[in-house]
Amino acid sequence: MCGIVGYIGPKNAVPIIMEGLKRLEYRGYDSAGIGCMIKGKLKVWKKEGQLANLEGILPEGLASNIGIGHTRWATHGGVTEANAHPQVGSRGKVSVVHNGIIDNYSALKKKLIGEGVAFTSETDTEALANLAEKFLGAGMAPDRAVRETLKLVSGTYGIVFLFTEHPDLIIGARNGSPLVVGVGDGEMFVASDANAIVRHTRQVVYLDDGETVVLTRDGFRTRDLRDAVVDKQVEEIDWVVEETGKNGYENYMLKEIFEQPEAVGRTFGGRLVPEFGTAKLGGLNLERRDFFDIRRVEIVAMGTAYHAGMIGSFLLESIARVPARAEIASELRCRNPIVEKETLYFVVSQSGETADTLLTLREIRNKGGRVMGVVNMVGSTMARESDGGVYIHAGPEMAVASTKAFTCQLMSFNLIALLFARMRDLSLAEGRALVREIQEIPDKMRRVLDQAEEIARIARKYKNAQSFLYLGRGPNYPVALEGALKLKEIAYIFSEGMSAGDVKHGPIALVSEETPVVMIAVKGDNLDKTISGMMEINARKGRIIVVTNVDDERITRIAEDVIRIPETRESLSPLLTVIPLQLLAYYIAVELQRDVDRPRNLAKSVTVE
Ligand code: AGP
Ligand code: GLU
Repeated sequence: MCGIVGYIGPKNAVPIIMEGLKRLEYRGYDSAGIGCMIKGKLKVWKKEGQLANLEGILPEGLASNIGIGHTRWATHGGVTEANAHPQVGSRGKVSVVHNGIIDNYSALKKKLIGEGVAFTSETDTEALANLAEKFLGAGMAPDRAVRETLKLVSGTYGIVFLFTEHPDLIIGARNGSPLVVGVGDGEMFVASDANAIVRHTRQVVYLDDGETVVLTRDGFRTRDLRDAVVDKQVEEIDWVVEETGKNGYENYMLKEIFEQPEAVGRTFGGRLVPEFGTAKLGGLNLERRDFFDIRRVEIVAMGTAYHAGMIGSFLLESIARVPARAEIASELRCRNPIVEKETLYFVVSQSGETADTLLTLREIRNKGGRVMGVVNMVGSTMARESDGGVYIHAGPEMAVASTKAFTCQLMSFNLIALLFARMRDLSLAEGRALVREIQEIPDKMRRVLDQAEEIARIARKYKNAQSFLYLGRGPNYPVALEGALKLKEIAYIFSEGMSAGDVKHGPIALVSEETPVVMIAVKGDNLDKTISGMMEINARKGRIIVVTNVDDERITRIAEDVIRIPETRESLSPLLTVIPLQLLAYYIAVELQRDVDRPRNLAKSVTVE
């Protein structure tokens, strides 16, 4: 799931691999390893925990011209040195780094054990090293051995093989987990993400599912699993390698929270048309007339991106009056989705690689559906496989917990809804007013961020609570879910987000003096009802922290803490209300001394189902 980097060429592979893995580090991982050829012998170093631990055991001056490295996010087998990758075959002839899951590994392993092969790890991956070794032993060339191995495998992989007896080549393959080849001058790279190698070369080849690639110093050759040569286009990476430092902030998450005003500004930059009160989204590849045929919108995503999609569906319905709904991608897929011609589908994803979302995208497209991507990572699989879309331009998001990608996804949906609305009901004057309000968002976000110290104070006050509730209505209901998710992810505190209307139908039994309740109460259709809900919580002695843009005596009388945010129309309010919730989770996590950027058990992009 996490990272792969490989190198073959005249330079020392070790620093190239270690630096590449570091660039993928933000994705979250639990162990790391490197394997390389030294004087004809395969050498492997592996270590649990951070890359620094691995670095600590590498011999000084270690040098090799060919090697592979990995950061692991355990799926099969605990976090141990033995389970870290590279996994090496029992005869020491094949080593493998793998992202993904081999579904039928247990049958493969059983068969190999029956044939006398000894296993030393609990991983699904080790079976692949042993299988390839078996085929090599039967006299096959490495590329054929890999293809025969993969033919027997079901599951997902981005995988790279190194062969002890063929120290002049590396073989990679992809099915469901990304792999990209970097073409250098007399040297070749391979990685799970172009970010890991872009400092060395901008010429890349993205492998597609079912393809294998043989890399030598001088070139590469791609084939499918039936051995047919596949001609691949070498693409030039045209994106700028963006600043990925912490820029003086204590960690990435805080930096990314504070970057949000500029980030959402990039999302709408050049896309608003004030004169016509609309948005211009060329990437959707939709002709004006196409809009007449769209009867419904369906948005699919996971986690934070799903919360953004929920708000997106609210915006499309309320502003553009298009029936819209958001679905958890994995749920939609397992229901055998009904795909309709008049429905426009959106996938939302920061990474563009999330397996649940990607596989749903493919399922919908296979059934003839038109799918748009709302994606951050340029060139990611979803960006490449969708029919069109909107890049959110959040810039690299390094913290595992998503913050700026969320607000940029929200901003993208505001633009999409504006465009749809202006093709339907919304008048020119209303469109222009909305454009103006969108343009004011970055400044208003800055005013929310100015209250960081006050929010830190609130965090200190509640840091020892065992559980939290988050309540919101309308477009702020998904914000409540998002606030609770942030707290779970980085502070490890049990928290539930729910609809402020639904809480009295059961969950209110949880309310007591011990449970802080974070409520979002903003100007608009839902304010009075939200305040009534607040009264009900107060009557049961709940301690209320409120995020609000109204000066209402009913609120100040019962809320223990009030976080004030600037006024905006309700449909834009999530862009502001979410920031105090991000900061609250952040400061509580810091108080509890959590690893904010790399929370336990999580990975930045979940490329397994
Ligand atoms: C966000 O904080 C989470 N780490 C997670 O829910 C994430 O949003 C989800 O896995 C989807 O990722 P994606 O946007 O890269 O598809
Ligand atoms: N399934 C493999 C394992 O658990 C690979 C995990 C990964 O993608 O990092 O070892």
